[in-house]
Amino acid sequence: LTDADFEVYFDLRWRVLRAPWGHPRESARDEFEDHAEHAAVRNGDGTIVGVARAHLIDVDEAQVRFMAVEESHRQQGVGSALLAYLEQAVRGRGAKRIVLNSREGVVRFYEKLGYRVVGEGPILFEKLRHKRMAKDLSAGD
Ligand SMILES: CC(C)(COP(=O)(O)OP(=O)(O)OC[C@H]1O[C@@H](n2cnc3c(N)ncnc32)[C@H](O)[C@@H]1OP(=O)(O)O)[C@@H](O)C(=O)NCCC(=O)NCCS
Repeated sequence: LTDADFEVYFDLRWRVLRAPWGHPRESARDEFEDHAEHAAVRNGDGTIVGVARAHLIDVDEAQVRFMAVEESHRQQGVGSALLAYLEQAVRGRGAKRIVLNSREGVVRFYEKLGYRVVGEGPILFEKLRHKRMAKDLSAGD
């Protein structure tokens, strides 16, 4: 991804995940960007329509954050492709397990891709409930 791609990447992340709650652009970034694996999917004309990120939180555990697909491009496999890419990327860095906090409305999406609810997650912006989910990356090897 070029610097210009990253501008689009962070803009999409913010528009989908933070702008609806009135949160500023800085709220769509954290301190792990430089060390994380970043994934982006483009449509036919090269426009980035889906983004996601994973970073190691332990020697053998990674966390997925900031998964966002443009509304017009949902239900077309973009989210699945992003996760599959990130799983491979962190596996290559030694991760044996991935965890994430799923918004309650999208738990089913992650379940379809092999993640299981392992507990309660945080409540963001005072009302957005999350489930803690995990997937064992060594399964299926
Ligand atoms: C959640 C999100 C990333 C899914 O991306 P997507 O590109 O639409 O997902 P896919 O097309 O790869 O879907 C894969 C499967 O999950 C299902 N699925 C997708 N979104 C779903 C949802 N919200 N609820 C239930 N199932 C869902 C699809 O129907 C598909 O099922 P199939 O394999 O039986 O056809 C996307 O809807 C999004 O960005 N939502 C808004 C932001 C968000 O909630 N991000 C996650 C924060 S934890």
